[in-house]
Parts: sequence; C-alpha cells; structure tokens
Amino acid sequence: MVHLVAKGTVLWLYMVWSWGNIKRVLKQGTVFIRQEGKTMSILVTGGAGYIGSHTAIELLEANEDVIIVDNLQNGHKGAVKGGKFYQCDLRDEAFPDSIFGENEIEEVIHFAADSLVGESVQDPLKYYNNNMVSTLRLLGKIKEYGVKRLVYSSTTATYGEPENIPILETDGTVPTNPYGETKLAVEKALKWVDVAYGIKYVFLRYFNAAGAHISGEIGEDHRPETHLIPIVLEAALGKRNSVEIYGDDYETPDGSCIRDYIHVTDLAVAHILALKSLREGSGSKIYNLGNGKGFSVKEVVRIAREVTGVNIKETIAPRRAGDPAVLVASSEKIRSELKWEPKYDDLAVIIDTAW
Ligand SMILES: NC(=O)c1ccc[n+]([C@@H]2O[C@H](COP(=O)([O-])OP(=O)(O)OC[C@H]3O[C@@H](n4cnc5c(N)ncnc54)[C@H](O)[C@@H]3O)[C@@H](O)[C@H]2O)c1
Repeated sequence: MVHLVAKGTVLWLYMVWSWGNIKRVLKQGTVFIRQEGKTMSILVTGGAGYIGSHTAIELLEANEDVIIVDNLQNGHKGAVKGGKFYQCDLRDEAFPDSIFGENEIEEVIHFAADSLVGESVQDPLKYYNNNMVSTLRLLGKIKEYGVKRLVYSSTTATYGEPENIPILETDGTVPTNPYGETKLAVEKALKWVDVAYGIKYVFLRYFNAAGAHISGEIGEDHRPETHLIPIVLEAALGKRNSVEIYGDDYETPDGSCIRDYIHVTDLAVAHILALKSLREGSGSKIYNLGNGKGFSVKEVVRIAREVTGVNIKETIAPRRAGDPAVLVASSEKIRSELKWEPKYDDLAVIIDTAW
C-alpha cells in the first residue's frame, strides 16, 4: 500500500513538472525546454569567417544567444557583430573547458576548418590536423557537456567526380582531394557518434558560397582569395589585370566549367532551419545546398560586367587537373523537408551584393 502511494506521488509530481515545462514551451513559442535562469547558447565555431559570420547575424536576429569561437587564422574580428567572442584554436588544450564550462551550450554549428582544395593536395597533413583533430576535440567536449545537436558544414567535395547532374545526397562519395576526404571522414565519425551517444546532426553539403550581407556590413574576405566571384570583382576594381578562365574546351555550351553558386545568407538561413529541425526531434540528416542552377565561368564574368559596368578582361588559361565540366547540386530534399527557399538565386543579385 505504502509502495503504491509512493508510486502515485512520483507520477503526480512528474505530471506537474511536465505541465510546467509544456506551459513554458508554449509561452516561448519554441520547441526547447529551457532551464529557469539559464541562457542556452549556440556555439558557432569559425564564426568570424565568411559563412560563420553571416550565420551568426541571422541567429542574433532570431534572438538566439550566440557564442563564437575563432582563432582568426582566416576570420576577422570585425565580422563578429554580436554574441560572446572567444579567440582561440579548437585544438588548444585550454579551449573547451573555458567555453563549455562558462556557458550553457546547447547546440553547435561547426564551420571552423581549412578549406582550400589546392592547398589540401599540397599539404594534406595540415588538413587532417585542423579538420579532423579540431573536430574530434570538439566532439569530445560536446559529448562530455551533454550537447545533443550539431550542424556540420560539409561540402560537395565529399562526392568527388559526380555520378549524376544534379548531384543527389544518395550519390556515392569518393573525394578526389584531402579537403573532401577530411570532411567525409568527419561525417563518418559523426554517424557513429550519433549511434553511441545520441548526438543528432545535420550535414549541409554545399557549393560555392557567394555574395555578401544585404546590409553591406560584412562579406567575403579570404586571403588568399580563390573564389571566382571575388576574383572577378577584384579585376573590376583594377586589383587584377584579368580573370583567368581555366579551359574553354569543356563539353558545355560556351566551353567553360559550370558551377553552382549560393548566396551566403541563403546558406545561413539553411543552418537555422537545420537547427530547428533538430529541435523538433528530427533524426540526423544530410542535405545538399545549392541554388540548383549552374552558371558557366564565362557567364559569371559577363554578368559581373553588367552589374559593375566595368569591361572586366578575361584570359583563357589551361584546364586545371581534376576540374569536372559541370558541378550542380540538387537541393530538392532540403526544399521539401525543411521548406528552405533561396531568396537570392539570381546571379546578378548575388554579384551585386558582393560588389
Ligand atoms: N566558402 C565556400 O564556398 C564553402 C563551400 C563548401 C563548404 N564550405 C565549408 O564551410 C565552412 C566555412 O567556410 P568559409 O568559406 O566561411 O571559410 P572561412 O575560412 O572564411 O571560415 C572558417 C573560419 O574558421 C576559423 N578556423 C579555422 N580553423 C580553426 C581552428 N582550428 N580553431 C578556431 N577557428 C578556426 C578561421 O579563422 C575562419 O574564420 C568550412 O568548413 C568550409 O569547409 C565552404
């Protein structure tokens, strides 16, 4: 009898507690169950970099509490527009306990990485060291501090030579360079981390991020710059004599390679939708992110001439090893499952924001 009363009391207390949480959730309009008096934060690694800083802005605008960590090897302190900033390297022994210990981190968006394909071929150990060691250290702390949701910046370089155009998430992954290999290796590690510790993830495999924040306050500033649109705009500004087009004898309408460009703010929004889906209890997922439309290198230069009004010169250079003729992703899966809609899918608009 005493046993039954005790059981009933426990059940009653549990129901009261649950109802309190449900009310709190309804009041906040979020699927979170937040603890009273604590601010739950999102850790953005690489948040002073190009895509990370744009994503941090979208998170801040959505009233999220943002913690940014960046070693500033490529990022810029000036691109951090809010939140709490830690300048440190993810591989640093002291890093995790200070950041995880001082904050209530509930979710992580992981951008920090080295990401130059050519450099990765010349110096693969740099890529294995940063992209894998950093992520493994981060994952160890994610597990230790009970974080259950992670959005990971992956890349279409995980696919290698495309099997189909547009590339689907179900296509085979055979990277053709160490950069893609390290990104894929992290994806594989995360699958087992989910199985063992229940840490749910979304991998976003994206194409060429492009453009700048509509406010004009932040944009793309890689040094050295290897991305086509900023290179074309440097030529428009007279910082380069011309734009080199690597090969004009591909099997494409104008002979130059075709690539997929996605506006950085559309990318940033996709990270937020991915987090939202994890909050709503979705399982781990992989999504491609592209704009679905391919543009040839020559088209990019032509449209940039129209946008800038400058007669940007182009010169034809030999093909680069390992450059496929066409790389375009299908984003149908994220469009239908997360209702992601790119707002800036017109290349002239993308280039204009960058300009
Ligand atoms: N830019 C693209 O077109 C593109 C395409 C596909 C995938 N990605 C992926 O998106 C992510 C962000 O790319 P991005 O273009 O914004 O690059 P970025 O270099 O501008 O940003 C990366 C940031 O991470 C920081 N960082 C690197 N290693 C670190 C470490 N060990 N500790 C702390 N901070 C570190 C850098 O200082 C930089 O600010 C990368 O993971 C990249 O692989 C980018």
